[in-house]
Amino acid sequence: MKLQGAVAVVTGGASGLGAATVRAFFERGARVVILGRPSSRGEAIVQELGAAARFVPTDVTSPDQVAQAMQQTVAAFGALHIVVNCAAVGPVKKIVGRHGPMPLEMFEAVVRVNLSGTFNVIRLAVAEMLRNTPNDDGERGVIINTASLAAFEGQPGTVAYAASKAGVAGMTLPIARELAGDGIRCVSIAPGTFNTPLLAMMPEPQRTEFVAQIPFPSRPGRPSEYAALACHIVENPMLNGSTIRLDAALRLPAK
Ligand SMILES: NC(=O)c1ccc[n+]([C@@H]2O[C@H](COP(=O)([O-])OP(=O)(O)OC[C@H]3O[C@@H](n4cnc5c(N)ncnc54)[C@H](O)[C@@H]3O)[C@@H](O)[C@H]2O)c1
Repeated sequence: MKLQGAVAVVTGGASGLGAATVRAFFERGARVVILGRPSSRGEAIVQELGAAARFVPTDVTSPDQVAQAMQQTVAAFGALHIVVNCAAVGPVKKIVGRHGPMPLEMFEAVVRVNLSGTFNVIRLAVAEMLRNTPNDDGERGVIINTASLAAFEGQPGTVAYAASKAGVAGMTLPIARELAGDGIRCVSIAPGTFNTPLLAMMPEPQRTEFVAQIPFPSRPGRPSEYAALACHIVENPMLNGSTIRLDAALRLPAK
């Protein structure tokens, strides 16, 4: 699918990997709608990009808010072709810590945003994509999700995050299979360590030690490198049903 002239929704598009994807799509001629928290920089990015961009303050876990965001996207730009799910939260918490067992609500809250929120956006986006006339390759839409190395090599303290991201990786193939007859592809990206606000939250010296474990290139990924893969997934119709590691050969250690 060509990005030129396509309409894309990017959740969590006001920061980090999502914001880089918004810019990359915009530079290639797509119109882009950012779904993000009201407090995010979504409006500032839209001011910068102009009429081909919109910000719709949205909580990805809300069926009503996401449905409205999809309607606003179609009302503004006439269709929806691409959705990129970047919205996520990633608190670190032990199963049983100094203050007792992890509250079940905390586990559920992470799964609600990262896994249920991703699916909530997908189901409502697909409903819009199904209205598209297929292009010359028979394509109606492309779904890109964001998993994590934690889906495969989760570390202590990340059980909720790892479970939610394993869920994202796990639903990629069944979504691709279910929507194959409709010309809609689904691919997930499992990033290693990228330079975003999420990484900046990690205290020193852990951050330097963490980055030193990356084989090559031995540095955090640039958000533009995630965005480059997102663009390629849109443009390459053979990519479907897989979770692609983007990790510079990093394998997270046990601790
Ligand atoms: N940065 C990394 O090293 C790394 C590694 C592996 C996976 N990831 C994944 O990449 C994606 C992007 O993360 P990032 O590093 O750019 O971090 P980020 O914190 O900049 O981006 C996450 C965005 O999600 C938004 N968000 C959170 N909850 C939301 C909700 N309920 N509704 C709407 N928006 C919500 C946040 O406001 C933020 O803009 C996430 O899925 C993250 O798990 C990042």
